[in-house]
Amino acid sequence: MSDSTARLDLDNGSVELDVYQSTVGQPGIDIRKLRATTGHVTFDPGFGNTASAHSAITYIDGAAGILLHRGYRIEEVASKSSFLEVAYLLLYGTLPNVGELLTWESEINAQTLLNEEMRSFFDAFPRRAHPMAVLSSATNAISTFYDVYRRPMREDEIDAGARTLIAKMPTIAAWAYKKSIGEPYVYPDPDLGYVENFLRMTFSNPISDEPIDPVKVKAMNMLLILHADHEMNCSTATVRGVGSSRANMFTSVAAGMGALWGPLHGGANQAVIDQLQSIHDDPDATIPGMIARAKDRNDDFRLMGFGHRVYSNYDPRARVIEKFAQEVLDSMDQADPLLDIARELEAAALADPYFAERNLYPNVDYYSGILFRALGFPLRMFTVLFTLGRLPGWIAHWMEMNLDSETKIMRPRQIYIGEAERPYPAIEDR
Ligand code: CMC
Repeated sequence: MSDSTARLDLDNGSVELDVYQSTVGQPGIDIRKLRATTGHVTFDPGFGNTASAHSAITYIDGAAGILLHRGYRIEEVASKSSFLEVAYLLLYGTLPNVGELLTWESEINAQTLLNEEMRSFFDAFPRRAHPMAVLSSATNAISTFYDVYRRPMREDEIDAGARTLIAKMPTIAAWAYKKSIGEPYVYPDPDLGYVENFLRMTFSNPISDEPIDPVKVKAMNMLLILHADHEMNCSTATVRGVGSSRANMFTSVAAGMGALWGPLHGGANQAVIDQLQSIHDDPDATIPGMIARAKDRNDDFRLMGFGHRVYSNYDPRARVIEKFAQEVLDSMDQADPLLDIARELEAAALADPYFAERNLYPNVDYYSGILFRALGFPLRMFTVLFTLGRLPGWIAHWMEMNLDSETKIMRPRQIYIGEAERPYPAIEDR
């Protein structure tokens, strides 16, 4: 609801624009009528200053380093909830009571099995296929087994689609992994919880079916929660953008996976470990050398896991993960030299004016890989794990967008800088 206006003065006159207040955080100027009334468009590459929707799911105070899901602090959510509880919170807006949680868990558990025809789908990929490519293809592929593919906008089917995706994604992720290492696919066990099931489908095989270590379950649960939503990030904006054309939820989520895979987004967790590993292995790759490269304008090298579009402070998720990584390693009686290197690199970067002036701090991807390694995951699975965590956030946004009467098909404008109209030359005259 607009309760104030802003005036914009242009050469050809001025225009009054509505201003929308938020519950907390920045208000927004409504520019929807700007082009029609003044002939101007706004210019905002990367949409760094553009709100594309009203949303009630997640709030970030980037300057203070605060992240709230439906009003609850991430630190509290991560330490007190199960991942499925957080998924429910994101999707439906409230924490479930005991009965609601039990029903939700059993509905999800009942759907973890993939259609048996999906086996041949996984078989068709080459062994070296990156699991992110397999995951997004499989997400699109399973839509063909459900009516949601044909009637994407029916409310009961939206709910059913959400449950189906959340239930089947751990099985898809585990099978993508099994395919990549040439082991037989492991079927879900209905007696196990969501996270245990995923870890068992990933790490057990017919000749080794050890019980899953509860420390690993706790760590994985927390990691999934810490990735569960982050308002209008690149992949979520992609899911919303694809969904705005009324594409079904499955294909919208698969598109979000493509966006997440990039190294500037979720792919950074893999890239961070590559950088730390090179400091460890390569005598020429030193911490001062990396800091110098990151600062060099003529080098496109970036310190991965550092910097954020929204945070100008320490990412609260990175703090939780860094502390937890040490606890998990200690409880497993393990040490990881990359954790020490990460801390040294962080200290060197934070002491450097380049990083201080630009407010560049560790983000969620900086320490998560250390924990994923401790849990036994290979590098190529890291972004898949981010995806598993982000799934409920994507779906919550897709649902919110779908119910929002203000939603319009995403279709930005441009400032054209190409040729003006000119005569078409015959081929012999070019
Ligand atoms: N290393 C070195 N310099 C950096 C870095 C970095 N990691 N990040 C930003 N900068 C510099 C950048 O060169 C620019 O300097 P100048 O003002 O002199 O031109 C300034 O800081 C502002 O950067 P920007 O690229 O305009 O900022 P952005 O908001 O467009 O980009 C970012 C945000 C996350 C893409 C960027 O910080 C980055 O590339 N970080 C490394 C990749 C990474 O860790 N991504 C994970 C993001 S968090 C989780 C997620 O979304 O998946």
